[in-house]
Amino acid sequence: MSLFIKKPLEQMLAQAEDGGKGLKRTLGAANLVALGIGAIIGAGLFVRTAAAAGQAAGPGVTLSFIVAAVGCAFAGLCYAEFASMIPIAGSAYAYSYTTMGELVAWIIGWALIMEYALGAATVSIAWSEYLNKLLGGAVPYEWSHSPFESFTDSAGVYHSGIMNAPALAILLLLTLLLIKGTQESALVNMVIVFIKVAIVLLFIALGWQFINPANQTPYLIPEGTPPVLDQAGAVIADYSEWNKHGWGGILGGAGIVFFAFIGFDAVSTAAQEAKNPKRDMPIGILGSLVVCTILYILFGHVLTGVAPWTDFVDPEKGREASVAYAISTYMPGYEWLAKAVTIAILAGFSSVILVMLMGQSRIFYTMSNDGLIPKAFGELHPKYKTPFKANWILFVFVGLFAAFVPGHVAGDLTSFGTLFAFILVSAGVWILRVKSPNIHRPFKTPIYPVVCTLGVLICSAMIIGLDAQTLKVAFTWMLIGIIVYFLYSRHHSKLRNPK
Ligand code: ALA
Repeated sequence: MSLFIKKPLEQMLAQAEDGGKGLKRTLGAANLVALGIGAIIGAGLFVRTAAAAGQAAGPGVTLSFIVAAVGCAFAGLCYAEFASMIPIAGSAYAYSYTTMGELVAWIIGWALIMEYALGAATVSIAWSEYLNKLLGGAVPYEWSHSPFESFTDSAGVYHSGIMNAPALAILLLLTLLLIKGTQESALVNMVIVFIKVAIVLLFIALGWQFINPANQTPYLIPEGTPPVLDQAGAVIADYSEWNKHGWGGILGGAGIVFFAFIGFDAVSTAAQEAKNPKRDMPIGILGSLVVCTILYILFGHVLTGVAPWTDFVDPEKGREASVAYAISTYMPGYEWLAKAVTIAILAGFSSVILVMLMGQSRIFYTMSNDGLIPKAFGELHPKYKTPFKANWILFVFVGLFAAFVPGHVAGDLTSFGTLFAFILVSAGVWILRVKSPNIHRPFKTPIYPVVCTLGVLICSAMIIGLDAQTLKVAFTWMLIGIIVYFLYSRHHSKLRNPK
């Protein structure tokens, strides 16, 4: 039987109808935009803006945001077409099962584990950074960093991480919450979104007067910038590669800050609850993207104007908890803002982690119902009716990354997984237009096939801009996925083995 066996679209839509019975169509365009912003603004903005500036783009991180936003906009339009046409949980995995067949769907599902599970790990590591900042560095370096991180401080003392305990703790707490089925109400989400956006606006407005033009000259990292070393002479940042300086650095930076946009696809999972999906899904997806892009560019401009980007590579300066650092170091009189920002960020990160863990367990659930992964992933708790086994397995997997892997490694792998899914979704729109031109499409991606093609090209360029090491790990992960497919999933697929 073909590797590219497809789930018939009619079966998919019938499933969506079934699944939709319990769900009420209550979400309007404004709710969807809020949902998107709730899932989008997080560690990407508050941690990786500084990382991208310090490692690749300098003050040009504003341009990196534009490149990443353009790639997301094209992919977002393609998501909107699918989300209005096949309004079912499972997102990109589900879309590809019907368009490109089982093997491709499996590959996307496997890549989505990188997006959601490693995304949750990345944000929990960022959560740990800001918690420690709030506690005045009370958690020792050793217990708040992975074993792959070390540095020698200015007193000549060598520090090496053992495990990131706070990151593990927040994951455990949120996993317990998810198993109990605690639903974030729309109201709670609205409140967190309001706080997050208010803090970003406050930082932009108050920080503007502290912008020092000297920090932004030159605008790009010059070629030949020497590497940054710690006290013992170990390299902590190297600008020699093509994607670490100049215009190449803008692309490298885009691959890093791309993380800040992840989450707008979460809007597509709420398609079954939208009042008027035809109109509101595109508004929800693209509206949240537009709002976030504008905020991000202004934020990047102020952050790199207030503090020199070179501070963002130094572990004793602004490498961690960069926003709080920039405020307390360069904005005299605003210590209160540094505290408020930190608390708001901790709350904001928690909601992003929750959405990611929930998204991953939903994808596991769908894949398990299709027989591609073991039944345990789809089993519901007898009392709470949540996929508790999937939640526990996920906790162990995500926890291992959060405790023992550096945040930038987990973050880059998250970007890879997401970009990979975006490429396949963009290609999927094209394939389905050719193969099934007559299906009813409530929302159509404009200027077809230009938008799909550009979606594929820009997202591919951002993948190429990622670190060589990240790419190696990511391809190994994908290879493991293909082996699992041939050893397990192919033989257990319900589509292949109908009872
Ligand atoms: N976009 C989300 C964040 O930045 C994943 O935390």
